[in-house]
Amino acid sequence: PAPFRVAVAGLGTVGAATVQLLADNAGLIAARAGRPVEVVAVSARDHNRPRPCDLTGIAWFGDATEMAARAECDAVVELIGGSEGVARAVTEAAIKAGRPVVSANKALFAHHGWTLAQAAEAAGVPLAFEAAVAGGIPILKALREGLAANALDSVYGLLNGTCNYILSTMRDSGRDFADVLAEAQSLGYAEADPSFDVDGVDAAHKLAILTSLAFGTQVNLDAVHVEGIREITALDIAFAEELGYRIKLLGLASATEAGIEQRVHPTMIPADAPLAGVDGVFNAVVAEGDAVGRVVLEGPGAGAGPTASAVVADLIDLAAGRTAPPFGLPAAHLRPLDALPVERRRGS
Ligand code: NDP
Ligand code: HSE
Repeated sequence: PAPFRVAVAGLGTVGAATVQLLADNAGLIAARAGRPVEVVAVSARDHNRPRPCDLTGIAWFGDATEMAARAECDAVVELIGGSEGVARAVTEAAIKAGRPVVSANKALFAHHGWTLAQAAEAAGVPLAFEAAVAGGIPILKALREGLAANALDSVYGLLNGTCNYILSTMRDSGRDFADVLAEAQSLGYAEADPSFDVDGVDAAHKLAILTSLAFGTQVNLDAVHVEGIREITALDIAFAEELGYRIKLLGLASATEAGIEQRVHPTMIPADAPLAGVDGVFNAVVAEGDAVGRVVLEGPGAGAGPTASAVVADLIDLAAGRTAPPFGLPAAHLRPLDALPVERRRGS
């Protein structure tokens, strides 16, 4: 069968790992996709920078938007980042050119998800962004497919690997905030601007996307209450420990009497609760459904390999011809968050 040809925009932590994973696991990926999945074009800012992936025989584009519009490919992968600028232009150009888009860009889909889903649907172009939420945890697929039979009461969890790494490392080592943040950056966990991580913005982006999938609503980032971990000190963490609690940055969306509530903030969690034991760069997401009860998914939430794992899973789906509305429903069926009648758990 003909290879599924991929153009990758962005060769940083995630982009380079994606190119390398497609090469390293080419055999099993081809078997699962029913055809080889091959990188045919790439773009980044600096052509001369050494990359931890083999780019032999792959076309280089100095302009990522031009690549998205013109490269001979079957899908465009956007791994640049940011809700505006080049990342948005690449995504829009690919949709306009009729090319499926795979992305890890939660900022873009938190700000423009519904609009992009409408444009993609109108153009008959699949969109996929499993890597955008909780790194290597396949939570979007789980909400869209595995839990599709359930009315959900809530979805919540630890959605930012950098914050979880900082809080648990500060607790275990007594090191200070700035030192551990610098380490998380050097490990490739943090956003280009790490204030997105520590101020709770990145977790809010992810929560806004989760809410849309869980409750069938249009993504509404403005409705998320956001507080980060910048003010948490080693002393706060030690006091919480003494009282039998762990401090975690929690993101939570739930159906309340007043509608869907979305919030991100540091939370004291009892030390024996399951989320309290999720440390380091790991994320965990809990979904509560009326039929299934409580489902918990846990795994690496950031970093090269885990994120590339989710990007490549989306590519395998596309290559195999498996597509789904990215937010679980056709864009026209997603309701405004404010107008949502609260669907309570059966019998309560
Ligand atoms: P990096 O900063 O490591 O990489 C960004 C890449 O984009 C670089 O290769 C850079 O080029 C390239 N780039 C920047 N501007 C342009 C431009 N104008 N044209 C072409 N290429 C450009 O980011 P990450 O890999 O960490 O993140 C990429 C995306 O994945 C973001 O949306 C991020 O939020 C998301 N994500 C990241 C995770 C992680 O753990 N790192 C986890 C989940 C999602 P150059 O290398 O030449 O400077
Ligand atoms: N900066 C993000 C985090 C990357 O630390 O969780 C994964 O989305």
